[in-house]
Amino acid sequence: MKLLDVQDLTICFGGVIAVNEVSFALQAGETLGVIGPNGSGKTTLFNLLSGIYKPTSGTITLAGKLTQGLRTDEIFHLGLSRTFQNGRLFWNLNVLENIMMGLEEVRNTSIVGSIMGMQKEKDLQKQAVQKASKIMEIFGTLLTSQANKVASDLPYADRRRLEICRAIASNPKVILLDEPSAGMDGIETEILMNDLLKVKKALPELSIIVVEHDMGFIKGLVDKVMVLDYGKCIAYGLFDDVAANEDVIKAYLGQGDEAC
Ligand SMILES: Nc1ncnc2c1ncn2[C@@H]1O[C@H](COP(=O)(O)OP(=O)(O)OP(=O)(O)O)[C@@H](O)[C@H]1O
Ligand SMILES: [Mg+2]
Repeated sequence: MKLLDVQDLTICFGGVIAVNEVSFALQAGETLGVIGPNGSGKTTLFNLLSGIYKPTSGTITLAGKLTQGLRTDEIFHLGLSRTFQNGRLFWNLNVLENIMMGLEEVRNTSIVGSIMGMQKEKDLQKQAVQKASKIMEIFGTLLTSQANKVASDLPYADRRRLEICRAIASNPKVILLDEPSAGMDGIETEILMNDLLKVKKALPELSIIVVEHDMGFIKGLVDKVMVLDYGKCIAYGLFDDVAANEDVIKAYLGQGDEAC
């Protein structure tokens, strides 16, 4: 069964058609790379999928349910989680606490509950620490060695790793990663790609949609690639086929980018 089914998705901002009749499907466990020149609609597509923007037309079906009219938190509960292009963390909380904030049981814990049911609360907290620690271990010792460090003190690359951990803590069916290697050098980007391969191995049912400019990263990680240009999907398929597509080469050469 298709986990995500997107049909003719379109959004206009005044005269700009930021996403223009985009259709694609995603299976459970599949990784899709979304590439395209700056301003081609990649982040807007994520904002549509996560419910931040309402489409002008077209439909999104997630886990068999139309997301039309649903709030972002309702879409999150259907199993869609994401990271942001410019990064969002709880800067004053430590690494472990940041991941715990992604856990459903922590999000649902009320202050009243914590006062009324001290023991239950303690048990829940213990379980949450265990779960968060396990997620952290996907990245080996990179995060576990800094579990008590506040997010604002983390090196840049580890902040991006932490964001990914928090996004998968909610046990999502699909995660959207918007330029996870932004600000990283070539070596850090390669390490992150290998980290994400570890995430895929640890969570084989998890589907991933990733926006990236680094073609080595895309090639090494994804099953399929979609190319956006001026909001339109101009190519979709296996990396090598897409990279050889003339429209794609033209779109990239058009902005002086030699990545493709
Ligand atoms: N809220 C908005 N209001 C008006 N225009 C918008 C809005 N959000 C996006 N756009 C426009 O939609 C187009 C696509 O923008 P988007 O941010 O999705 O591009 P992108 O592919 O993510 O680019 P980048 O690679 O630079 O991150 C741009 O022309 C942008 O100016
Ligand atoms: Mg963007």
